Amino acid sequence: MKPAVLICRAVFPDIIDRLREHFEVETNEADVVWTQPELIAHLQGKAGVFITGTQPIDTALLADCPELRAVCSMAVGYNNIDVPACTARGVLVSNAPDVLTETTADFGFALMMAAARRITESEHFLRSGAWTKWTVNAFAGADVHGATLGVLGMGRIGQAIARRGALGFGMPVLYHNRSRLDAATEAALGARWVDKETLLRDSDHLVIVVPYSAASHHLVGAAEIALMKTSATLTNIARGGIVDDAALARALREHRIAAAGLDVFEGEPAVHPELLTLPNVVLTPHIASASLPTRRAMANLAVDNLLAALGVGPQKGKPPTALNPGVLA
Ligand code: DGY
Repeated sequence: MKPAVLICRAVFPDIIDRLREHFEVETNEADVVWTQPELIAHLQGKAGVFITGTQPIDTALLADCPELRAVCSMAVGYNNIDVPACTARGVLVSNAPDVLTETTADFGFALMMAAARRITESEHFLRSGAWTKWTVNAFAGADVHGATLGVLGMGRIGQAIARRGALGFGMPVLYHNRSRLDAATEAALGARWVDKETLLRDSDHLVIVVPYSAASHHLVGAAEIALMKTSATLTNIARGGIVDDAALARALREHRIAAAGLDVFEGEPAVHPELLTLPNVVLTPHIASASLPTRRAMANLAVDNLLAALGVGPQKGKPPTALNPGVLA
């Protein structure tokens, strides 16, 4: 009998077909967001699971799903997975890095530009019928070219954003990260490491790209925002919870910074109600990696990992982007 796997959310049909060649596949074509007890019920008897960045895989779930051997996510962020707990139980975990880097960086840059140049705010004005004449200072925002770009978190996506800023827009780039890039990479990106306070003080446009963890919870709150220029913008494409959304809403309302671009939110899909009322914030529903080719590549990478983890396909036994490959040793 073929092993059974679960695909937690609706995905492209050919993704399902790739898995059906080797496994009994349970799908969720209605795309229901299962509660944790529902997820556990669907996981009974499953050797592997294809997840996204939102299903929590924790100790309690692992204890209730003893047959589970592989958890393969199509997201790069894996703060929803307790990797040490999986490792302790011999469960292979993979995420989906690299394939979304450039698409996510494109979107981060677009969101930063939309905030700086007041694009959605002015579009709402036009659509409302309020536009009756051209005006010298209407929706005059901040320049992006030549302004100082600040990148908080300098992993793959941070570096791709820095490259866009430095090479495409002539922006001096500052960054802060726990570990510094080597000198050659810094030189290629035209990026300079600074401490967090300097980054906040000196950036014209701050883009946040750090992974979420207990250590990065509210990494940017009222005290940090207070250090920023009143003309600055803040863009978060990382994870909800890294920015204190209530503090940010207050700062935007009081014009302590000029504008923000947010693709991720604390407690999403709920959004802090005050953010919804403010004109100087661009809000998008966690779509930074959502180009069709990239979402397909992310899903295919999760399948590559699931096949390999469960011992089939050309990469059998060697999932390409395993986070704990040692469990298969
Ligand atoms: C990721 O891949 O982490 C994106 O945020 C989608 O979840």
